[in-house]
Formats: sequence, structure tokens, C-alpha cells
Amino acid sequence: MTVDYVWCGEFTNGELNMLHAEAFETRVFGDKEWDWRKQVATHSCGWVVARGEDGTLAGFVNVISDGLVHAWIQDLMVPNSVRRQGVGRRLVQVAAEAVRAGGHEWLHVDFDDELIDFYIESCGFTPTNAGLIELQGSRS
Ligand SMILES: CC(C)(COP(=O)(O)OP(=O)(O)OC[C@H]1O[C@@H](n2cnc3c(N)ncnc32)[C@H](O)[C@@H]1OP(=O)(O)O)[C@@H](O)C(=O)NCCC(=O)NCCS
Repeated sequence: MTVDYVWCGEFTNGELNMLHAEAFETRVFGDKEWDWRKQVATHSCGWVVARGEDGTLAGFVNVISDGLVHAWIQDLMVPNSVRRQGVGRRLVQVAAEAVRAGGHEWLHVDFDDELIDFYIESCGFTPTNAGLIELQGSRS
């Protein structure tokens, strides 16, 4: 499968809300509930859009930043139909190359145990301690 990867590539809110629902097993949010285009334009230092030869969305990753040294990967998503073909790993590589070129020194990610092989073995992240506080949920 030939896939094209574009830093800050075009996408529609509908495409991303469909992919998000599939990737994270949520309902499909409406374009006004989750306005991805506004979100990345306001809060991201970039993002990567992957598309197959026919133009179908083949993956996405959002990258947020402190504007200087640290960047974070968020919402890495690949449709079920094209998983385990290297798309996720390549999305991370393209994101890393872009933020490195922009002068960032560190790329961060956090993830569940089931993705240790993906992030550590396949994408090359170094294991580290991290912390998380749930701000809106029942445990806050
Ligand atoms: C995680 C995700 C992005 C991986 O995308 P992908 O395109 O399938 O990943 P790749 O094909 O690049 O995987 C490369 C290697 O990582 C490992 N890997 C990938 N997905 C894995 C999984 N679910 N479990 C264990 N190892 C995995 C494998 O070693 C794989 O190589 P192999 O297929 O030759 O065995 C995709 O499964 C996804 O969208 N999941 C739902 C959303 C999600 O959880 N996102 C991450 C949030 S932190």
C-alpha cells in the first residue's frame, strides 16, 4: 500500500471524527462538538495526515508543543483496515522529523501497556516515568 504523509496536511472534521470514533471506540462526535481544524490551528505546532493512493484518510497524529524544547504526540490514529502495515510508525517518524527540524529537543508520549511494543520497540521511544491527573472525571 502506498501512503502519502503530509505535515500539516488538509483534512475535514468529518474525516477525523469518524477516525477518532473507530480508533478510540467512542460515538462519532459532531463537527461542532469536536472541531479538529480549529483545535489544531489554535493549539498544535503541527500534525501529520496520511492518505492512501485514492485519497482516503489512512492515519493522523497531532503534535502539541511548549513552543521551544518539548513536543508531545496526541491522538495517533490509524484505521483498522490499514493497521499493522507500518503507517503508525511512519506517522510518528514524520512528526519527529518535523519537530526536530523546528528545533525541539524532546518528543513525549504516554500510552497504555498494550502499546509498549509499538512505542518503545517499533518507534524508538525510551521508557521513562510519567504522571497523569484526571481533571474532570470521577477520580478527580
Ligand atoms: C496504535 C496504532 C496507531 C498503531 O498503528 P499501526 O499502523 O497499526 O502500527 P504499525 O503497523 O506502524 O506497527 C509497527 C509495529 O508496532 C507494534 N504494534 C503495532 N500495534 C500494536 C498493537 N496493537 N499491539 C502490540 N504491538 C503493536 C508491532 O510490533 C508492529 O509491527 P508488526 O505489525 O510487524 O508486528 C493503531 O493500532 C491505532 O490507531 N490504535 C487505536 C488508537 C490508539 O490507541 N492510539 C494510540 C494512543 S496512545
